[in-house]
Parts: sequence; C-alpha cells; structure tokens
Amino acid sequence: MPEQRPKTSFLHSEDQLKNPSPENTSDNSTKGSVVDSSDFSRRLNAVIPGGAHTYSRGDDQFPSNAPQILQGGKGSNVWSPDGRRFIDYGMALRAVSIGYAEPEINAAAVRGMELGNSLTRASMIELEAAERLVSLVDSVDMVKFTKNGSTATSAAVKLARAYTGRTLIARCAQHPFFSYDDWFIGSTPITRGIPTETIEQTKTFAYNDIASLERLVSQYPDQIACVILEPVASETPATDAGQGTNYLQQVQALCRTHGIVFILDETITGFRWDMGGAQKTYGVTPDISTFGKAMANGFSVAAVAGKREVMELGAINRPGEERLFLLSTTHGAEMSGLSAFLATMDFLERNQVIPHLWSYGAKLMESFNRIASRHGVEQHIKAGGPAANPYYLTLDQKGAPWFALRTLFAQEMIEQGILMPWLAFSYRHGEDELRRTELALERSMEVCAKAIREGVDKYLRGPEIKPVFRRYN
Ligand SMILES: Cc1ncc(COP(=O)(O)O)c(C=O)c1O
Repeated sequence: MPEQRPKTSFLHSEDQLKNPSPENTSDNSTKGSVVDSSDFSRRLNAVIPGGAHTYSRGDDQFPSNAPQILQGGKGSNVWSPDGRRFIDYGMALRAVSIGYAEPEINAAAVRGMELGNSLTRASMIELEAAERLVSLVDSVDMVKFTKNGSTATSAAVKLARAYTGRTLIARCAQHPFFSYDDWFIGSTPITRGIPTETIEQTKTFAYNDIASLERLVSQYPDQIACVILEPVASETPATDAGQGTNYLQQVQALCRTHGIVFILDETITGFRWDMGGAQKTYGVTPDISTFGKAMANGFSVAAVAGKREVMELGAINRPGEERLFLLSTTHGAEMSGLSAFLATMDFLERNQVIPHLWSYGAKLMESFNRIASRHGVEQHIKAGGPAANPYYLTLDQKGAPWFALRTLFAQEMIEQGILMPWLAFSYRHGEDELRRTELALERSMEVCAKAIREGVDKYLRGPEIKPVFRRYN
C-alpha cells in the first residue's frame, strides 16, 4: 500500500507563485499551522540516499532545530514550509553570490528558456558565454561549460593526463573538495567502491609548504600529470620574502620545470575574488582553471577552461590527431544557465558585487570575533580566513575541532532566525542583515559561554553534527 502523504505541492500553488515568501503573506499565520514539518526528513531519506543531493545539505550537517527542508529563497533569506524565515549564511553552498531569485538574473534565464533552452547545434548564447569567459580570465583561451564543478575538475584531470601521458595526480591535502569522482574521493576516508589502483594514483601535498610538493615530484619523477589546488581556501598564499614570490607562483614554477599541468580550482574563488579570478589577485597563470559557484547566481553552470594548447586536445578540427573525449553532455550548454551566467557577469560588474562581498565579510568577521571576545569565548568560537570567503571554527580546550559546540552555536543562531552552517553571503546581505546577525551572535555566544562552563550537552537539543568525510555513518 502506498503511504498517505500530505497533498501539498509547494511549487505549483498559485498563491506561492504570486506571493512567494512568508513575508509577503498577510501575517505570519503560516507559522506551524500550514504544514507539519516534522516528517520531511523521514520522507527525504526514504527516497533520496543521504536525504539531499549534496552531503553538505544532509541532516548530519545541521542541528536538530534546523529546518528539515526549505521552500524558497529571496535575497538573503530562505524560508521553510512551516513559515520560519532565516537570514541565510549557507547561500546554496556558495552558488548564490548576488541573492536568491534576483529578478534580473531570473529574467535572463527565462530569455534563454524562451529561445528553446537547448537546441540541436551550439547556440548563440553558448558562443557569447564562451567568448565572455575568455575575455574575462587572462589564462583562458578556450572553455567547456558543464553543470557541476566536479565534472569540470575531472575533465581538467583527464586533459592533464592526456597532455602529459602521465597518470598520477597531486592534490592539495587541506582543500576539502574537488570532485565526487573516484580520483578525488579515493583520497578521502570514504573509499568504498573505489578500486585500489585508482586510490593509489592520487597523492597529496600540503598547502603553503612548497617542500612537500617538491618531495612528491622527486618521489615520482615524470609520473605526475597535474597539480590541483584551490588558489586560496582558509589559508592565503604565503609570500617568500627572500624570493619575492608567493606560494602559488612557486607551485607554478615547479610545474613548469617538471612538465606538470598546473590546475587551479576556482570553483569557489572565481568571480568572488576578482572578475579575473583569484589567479589575477595572486599573479599566476594556470594551464587549466575550473569555475562553478558564483558563475550564474545559483543556476547550474560550471566550466573547465584554459590554455589552447591543452584544451585543444578535445577538439575535432585537428586532422589525424588522436582524439580526447572531453566533456560531452546533453545539458552542458543549457541556454537558461548560460544566459544567467552572462547576466550575472553584467550584474557583478555594474554593481561592484565583489567589493561588497569583501567588505561585508570583513565586517562580519570583525563583529563575530568582537562578540566572541565580549562573552569570553574567543578561544572556542572564532571567524577567520579571507574576507570574501571566511570560515568559523569551534575549538575545544586543546584547540581541536569541537563539533558539539559547533552544533550548539548553529542551534542558537537558528533560534534567532539565522541559518549559519558556515559563512557564505551575497550582495543582498546588507547593513540590516549585519545588524540582525550581530544581535543573534550576542545571544548565541552568551548561551555558548554558559554551556562551555556548565557542559555543552546540557544545552544541545539533538545529535551533534558530524564531519562529511567520515568512513562510517
Ligand atoms: C573547490 C571546489 N571544487 C569543486 C567542487 C565541486 O562542485 P560541484 O558540487 O558543483 O560538483 C566544489 C564543491 O563544493 C568545490 O568547493
């Protein structure tokens, strides 16, 4: 017997389309009355392995009072079907950099849809989008668009292997995610289902420690096809005062000397650090770059892009040359997404979005750490990292990650109407959002301070969040 389900459809209700957010309803009477929200997690996990399409969205990443499901987003806000509304610091895993449902970007996506969305040959929008990316990023001569960062990085690795005729991949150990594909996941604790030979082909090196990469290069002479890293994550590239070069420039030089393809994964940093990528900020010219989040304000657009000499391995106009089957997908150049990409680039340039992200992040970090200090928890809860993409940490007495405290902090922020699984924000996070976030930080840090003294478990309402990369559930 099929089980009984509520007949509510959140997408197709006329009212929802006309009045998409709880703020627009006459009052907040939806609160707790329209939909029983307690059952969504069970329903999600019954039909979707992991309960969502990214592990970072799973139940084990949020405290028990977090909305189990979301219904919509507008600007800096998201809301759940039970009428709760939050200022969001998750921002679709950093894919939304302008704000949810930005009219100008949505209108562009609709224009792409009205032109047919996906045609039988390459489209005008596809050409325009490719030419735009080439014009924006100095190191890029050619590009292939795709839907996810993972397929872009995997294509970059394939290109590197084909170009060099080598097998091994050197990937930065500190950078948390490059792809769902085996070449990367095999180098995490979750190796189930991945052949040993694949696992052995990916080696790791430490960020900001050029000697660790040099050791790898001498341990595997002429065997490393590519080095892949983010230009910057929690740490920024250190500068060697003696040589006057930064870490990324040293990686580039090492790659050039040893014939290794230098891949910069700009999935997060692209169009967030600078319109020309973080590669422009730090003065490097990767052979291949990948882009994804922040390309199209939440529309599914990613790209593998780079030097003609390498990218052209995927070409069909080089007679007699052995072919490389590079990223060939039905939906890779979907016109709604690429039209949203073009509109996003226009919007970022016209509205100075990138400077806004840097300035908002700096203010947020300053408030976060000031309020933590005021409550005497600055050793345990701290924000840091580059202002355009900061992080927050919760640390125990020994300075190790403290998941129980992270859970409690996130739980208390949710109580104050702030969804803060990490620190991602958008152009639509302004002074009002900052002020409301500061108020919530005050109350949450106060609870955390008490809990640190009296025992965090006493204040936790549900299970602790867990690291994504763990071997067992
Ligand atoms: C640096 C980096 N590279 C690649 C990816 C993979 O992107 P996607 O989730 O679109 O496959 C991510 C996603 O979090 C990422 O942060």
